[in-house]
Amino acid sequence: MSAAVEISAGRAQRPPAEVRHADELARLRAGDDAPKPPGWALSLRAARAFIVGDAKLGVARKFVGDPSLIDRALVSLATSRGLLLVGEPGTAKSLLSELLAAAVSGDSTLTIQGGAATTEDQIKYSWNYALLVSEGPTERSLVPAPLLRGMAQGRTVRFEEITRCPLEVQDCLLSPLSDRVMAVPELPGEAGMVFARDGFNIIATANTRDRGVNDMSSALKRRFNFETVFPIADFDTELSLVESEATELLRRSGVTAPPRRDVLEVLVTTFRELRTGRTARGDEMERLSAVMSTAEAVSVAHAVGLRGWFLNGAPGSAADLVSCLAGTAAKDNAEDLAKLRRYLEQHTAWRTGQQWRDLRDARRELPGG
Ligand SMILES: Nc1ncnc2c1ncn2[C@@H]1O[C@H](COP(=O)(O)OP(=O)(O)O)[C@@H](O)[C@H]1O
Ligand SMILES: [Mg+2]
Repeated sequence: MSAAVEISAGRAQRPPAEVRHADELARLRAGDDAPKPPGWALSLRAARAFIVGDAKLGVARKFVGDPSLIDRALVSLATSRGLLLVGEPGTAKSLLSELLAAAVSGDSTLTIQGGAATTEDQIKYSWNYALLVSEGPTERSLVPAPLLRGMAQGRTVRFEEITRCPLEVQDCLLSPLSDRVMAVPELPGEAGMVFARDGFNIIATANTRDRGVNDMSSALKRRFNFETVFPIADFDTELSLVESEATELLRRSGVTAPPRRDVLEVLVTTFRELRTGRTARGDEMERLSAVMSTAEAVSVAHAVGLRGWFLNGAPGSAADLVSCLAGTAAKDNAEDLAKLRRYLEQHTAWRTGQQWRDLRDARRELPGG
C-alpha cells in the first residue's frame, strides 16, 4: 500500500457513535415496530431508548438528563424546523447531537465545525479544481460538503458551535431550512437545484459562554426550535457519570486500575463548589471563571488516573488531583489559580477523610506555590 496515511476505523481513538454503539443500534432496529417519520432509521421510541437507555433491551444510558428533553428534540427533528441545542460548555450538547444523528440517520459524521474562519464552501459545496479546469462545472467536479450531502441523502446534518460563524455564513442555512432546497447556480439545468430528501434536518449547537445566540439573525432563529441543555443538578448522578466515563477512558488508555471512589468524590465536590461559588455546607466562596463542567471533570478524572498509574503505578490520589486541577484553573486567567489555592486553604480543613487532608497538603504543588 502506498498511501502515506493508513486509514483504519479499528484504531480510531474515538469512533463515531454509530460505530461505538453498532450492536445496540442493530438490536433496536430489529425490534422496532413503532411508526417512523419518513427517511428515519428508527422510530422516535427506539431513538429515545438509544439515548436515555432501556434496561430491558440491554441498551445503556448515554445521556444523563430529563428524558422529555430528548422527546422534544426528536419531535423537532421530525418537523420542518431545525434543532438548536444551547447551554453552558461541557453539558453534552455535542454528545447529544451526535447521538441524535446516529439514531435518526444512522450517521453522525455529516458535521460542520463552526468557527470564525468557516466559509460557505465548507458548509455547502466546493469544486475539484483539476476536474473543474478540464471539464467545467459538472456533477463530477462538484465536491459536496455536509449540508449538500445531508440534503441529497436525506440525513441529519450537525452544525457545531454555529454562533461562532459570521452571521452571513450562518444565513446560508435559510433556504435549506425553509424551502428545503439549495441552488448550485454553476450547474446547468435541473442539476442546479438540489431538493432535500425525507430525513434531512439540521441539529446545531451553541454555547452561552461564547458569543451566545444573540449573534444569530432573527430570520434564522425562527427556523430553529431552541432547547436548553442544563448541567447535571444532582451530586450522585454527576459522580456516577464521572466514575463510569473515567473508568472507560482509563481502560482505553491502558490503565488497569479503576479510579478511586474517594478521590472522585473529592473531585466532583471540588468541581461543583468552584462552579457554583458555594460549599456543600453552604459557605459562600469565590467561583472560578474557568468552565468547571462535567465534561471537564471527566477529563480531569482521566488525567488523575493516568498520572497515578504511569508515574507511581497506583490509582490517582488527591495529590494527583491538585496537579491536574491546576491545568483547568490556569486556562482562563492567573487569578483562577490564586482562587484555587485559597479554596484549598480555606475550605478543606473542616471536612473529614484522609483524601481531603491529602488535597489540602498538596496545595504546595500548585505552580508558584
Ligand atoms: N448530561 C450528560 N450526559 C452524559 N454525559 C455528559 C453529560 N454532561 C456532561 N457529560 C460529559 O461531557 C462529555 C461531552 O461533552 P460535550 O458534548 O463536548 O459538551 P458540550 O458540547 O456541551 O460542550 C461527555 O462525553 C460526558 O463525559
Ligand atoms: Mg460542544
